[in-house]
Amino acid sequence: MTASVLVLNGPNLNLLGTREPDIYGSDTLDSIEAACQKRAKDLSLTVEFRQTNNEGEMVDWVQEAAGSHQALIVNAGAYTHTSVALLDALLAAGLPVIEVHLSNIYQRDEFRQKSYVSKAADGIICGLGGLGYELALEALAQRLGTLKEA
Ligand code: DQA
Repeated sequence: MTASVLVLNGPNLNLLGTREPDIYGSDTLDSIEAACQKRAKDLSLTVEFRQTNNEGEMVDWVQEAAGSHQALIVNAGAYTHTSVALLDALLAAGLPVIEVHLSNIYQRDEFRQKSYVSKAADGIICGLGGLGYELALEALAQRLGTLKEA
């Protein structure tokens, strides 16, 4: 069995590679996506990767995912800490959600230590850079049972 996972990335994550590399590392979003596509194959998952700098677009994508994907991985960037609209969309979608952050948000500014997304997340991975996305895929493969014999 296979399942489809939508990976959503929020504002400024398009700048990965050059954006504050001391905090976010040198991986680009493209290289993270490539690693995820590779890992997804081994896990019998298909992955669709998206990035937006617009909150409303992210909400639209979560709403659409309910009819087209079986799970979500969400790095909402700064919207993590501000967006009740995104939280509401995630709760309404009712899909398994893994929240990912490249940095360890709990070691950073106080305002980054509150996550609205967490209220809708089945699990949270932070502080492991791009590897966190791959680990989230593994967790979803277990959760969705894609590794079981047909
Ligand atoms: C981030 C952490 C957020 O606080 C920040 O606004 C980001 C990236 C992370 O992946 O570590 O844009 O989500």
